[in-house]
Amino acid sequence: DKGGHKHFMAKEIAEQPTVLGEAIRHYLPNDGTQICLPGGDLDFSKVKRLVMVACGTASYACLTAKYWFEQIAGIPVEVDVASEFRYREPPITEGTVALFVSQSGETADTLAALRYCSGKADRIVSVINVPESSIARESDLALPILAGAEIGVASTKAFTCQLSVLLILALKAAQDRGQLGAEELNQHLCDLRALPGLINQAIGSESKISQVAAKLAETRDILFLGRGRMFPLALEGALKLKEISYIHAEAYASGELKHGPIALIDQHVPVVVLAPHDELYDKSISNMQEVMARAGKVLLITDAKGLKDGAEGTWDTIQMPQVSDILSPILYAIPAQLLAYHTAVAKGTDVDQPRNLAKSVTVE
Ligand code: M6R
Repeated sequence: DKGGHKHFMAKEIAEQPTVLGEAIRHYLPNDGTQICLPGGDLDFSKVKRLVMVACGTASYACLTAKYWFEQIAGIPVEVDVASEFRYREPPITEGTVALFVSQSGETADTLAALRYCSGKADRIVSVINVPESSIARESDLALPILAGAEIGVASTKAFTCQLSVLLILALKAAQDRGQLGAEELNQHLCDLRALPGLINQAIGSESKISQVAAKLAETRDILFLGRGRMFPLALEGALKLKEISYIHAEAYASGELKHGPIALIDQHVPVVVLAPHDELYDKSISNMQEVMARAGKVLLITDAKGLKDGAEGTWDTIQMPQVSDILSPILYAIPAQLLAYHTAVAKGTDVDQPRNLAKSVTVE
């Protein structure tokens, strides 16, 4: 049942304020001021290293979480795609927690990576959407993302729910390790509780995003740029777009631009710049100006402050609500998803069942 939407993907994008609210309440129960992990505890105080493994969109959730675990909790994190990790024979040293992220819980490579770590890592933890899945069953601790069934092949609500659970876990890690004062933690939890409302506001930009998407549908190549927490999101935006619109899209860390990709820039290549007005904003804008100086068409996605300081000379802009820095990757997932969705709709491709793709990749 598409609930009155044209596609499952549209329904699943629209459901995000509700399911995120549920996921957040699950881990911040009652008055929402304490983090709790129903189903088993995980004490981060002695953890020396976190190894995170996943595929596709779930791997981008892990990459985003690396910024959180390292910056907020001070835990060294390694992220790898499961297909590489499983054959590399990576040493799993003492004090390592291995964390696997999978919507389906059945992805063959991720399951094989989990089995490789079994008996080697201190704890096997998973962040999954299907509690009965193989990955959940074979973990010491399985944390549900509570996104509800996701039917569209392109992952949307699972991604933002994965991010929310991983952020809560990073905040718990910071708390366990004495890296966050009570006041700071309270502020983060308060911001998290307000997130579903902001996601709703972001979805409110849908008609503007669909106008931009109609222009993107005519292009062959698109680049996505982001810095810091926005870099994994640039990767996710590019993946979403190529999966369902079949437009070639690539993502780079903004700072990598002049190490090669800038050679691709001309008036035919739209460049999507994800740049909330945070501590790295000025750097992102200066990269954006390098693109514009080479006639590149910039689509700037930012907030009101970011637009005020940086909109001049851009090809188009999308405004997001103001959000606290650590939450920006979750909020900015919405325009990335909507851009891919409306570009695909404008091109008339099969949004829910894109060619050559399966929802669950249970073979290598
Ligand atoms: O079920 P999983 O989360 O393990 O699936 C991982 C990837 O196959 C999945 O995220 C894929 O990249 C999606 N089609 C992305 O939209």
